Amino acid sequence: MKYGLEDVIAAETTLSDVDGLAGRLIIKGRSLDELAGHTTYEEVAALLLEGLFETPVPPQQLALLLGQARLQALAHLHTVDATLLALPPVDAMRALIARLPDGDDLETAVRLLAAPAVFLPALLRLRQGREPLAPQADLSHAADILAMLTGTAPSAEQTAALDAYLVTICDHGLNASTFAARVVASTGAGLASSVLAAISALKGPLHGGAPGPVLDMLDSIGRPLNARPWIESALDRGERLMGFGHRVYRVRDPRADALKTALRPLVKAGKVDADRVALADAVERAALEILKERKPDRPLDVNVEFYTALLLDALGFPRDAFTGVFAIGRTVGWIAHAREQALHGRLIRPRSLYTGPVPQAA
Ligand code: ACO
Repeated sequence: MKYGLEDVIAAETTLSDVDGLAGRLIIKGRSLDELAGHTTYEEVAALLLEGLFETPVPPQQLALLLGQARLQALAHLHTVDATLLALPPVDAMRALIARLPDGDDLETAVRLLAAPAVFLPALLRLRQGREPLAPQADLSHAADILAMLTGTAPSAEQTAALDAYLVTICDHGLNASTFAARVVASTGAGLASSVLAAISALKGPLHGGAPGPVLDMLDSIGRPLNARPWIESALDRGERLMGFGHRVYRVRDPRADALKTALRPLVKAGKVDADRVALADAVERAALEILKERKPDRPLDVNVEFYTALLLDALGFPRDAFTGVFAIGRTVGWIAHAREQALHGRLIRPRSLYTGPVPQAA
């Protein structure tokens, strides 16, 4: 058996495909290059949800429903107390989502897409002692998230960058959190239960918990000249470099390039510290060289989390909220997979190999 279930096919899907050798991501028949930077979050969400609910959801309709659902989500914030605010943002967000009603219908799905987008910015403001800002239903999902985070109208570049991020990470084959969502859906539990299981799987540092530590690494390295010695000693201590390596990709993660492209207009507009970009370039180059020298038989390249860290930092999200933003974008993929599993799948119930003692014969 393989402990990581690599190469095991555990679901059939029409949602997305990760080609680890070609470095290609397909979402509903379109390549990531066609989508990121060219479509909005609402468009890609409508694409993923198409055919999975009785009511069709064209993008414009979804945009309206999301706007209304963001407004409704505000009512759930009255339960936030000091205990919740002391938790890491993704845990506090998960706790609030756990209070939402479960179900399998489009209304539940839209509520689950909208609520985290309101909860996360509100939690970040509340912990600074500031009042949460009300959503603006007529803004796009990406623009409203940024407006609720910062209290100012985002620029076109900022909205486009967050849209590109949300599109880039909307779905990604049978990764750990999506598998968790499908397992829960296969039991007949509702979409909220699937999303909660998925968030719990996402937050680990080997999955969606990596981008905060990427920024810690850049801060700790400090300047380009330090990149090589810092990386060498981290690897000597047996540590892993956050933002590098992937279970499926044996080449560069295409999402890293989509995010690097999305970052460019922000750099041009002076919204990203040029020194930080130069440092990230130096760290990426040094890490790739060193990983190649040390692991010649295991291709290790940059993954989505490296540029996620730079992009979300540039947009004003604090680093401990990065995993929460990831969850906001990935929820649509989780919901689509959960619906696909519920509609076409079976109860997921693999077997384990017992290696413990056996009772003595009587
Ligand atoms: N830095 C240093 N060495 C690494 C890294 C890394 N980032 N990733 C893998 N390796 C090494 C391992 O130490 C191992 O070496 P060994 O054979 O000498 O023991 C070898 O490469 C193979 O590693 P595996 O554990 O088999 O790789 P796996 O497919 O399980 O790991 C993972 C994938 C978890 C993403 C890994 O690359 C990692 O830990 N990366 C850092 C965390 C990270 O960036 N996570 C985000 C992933 S993207 C996402 O989930 C959204």
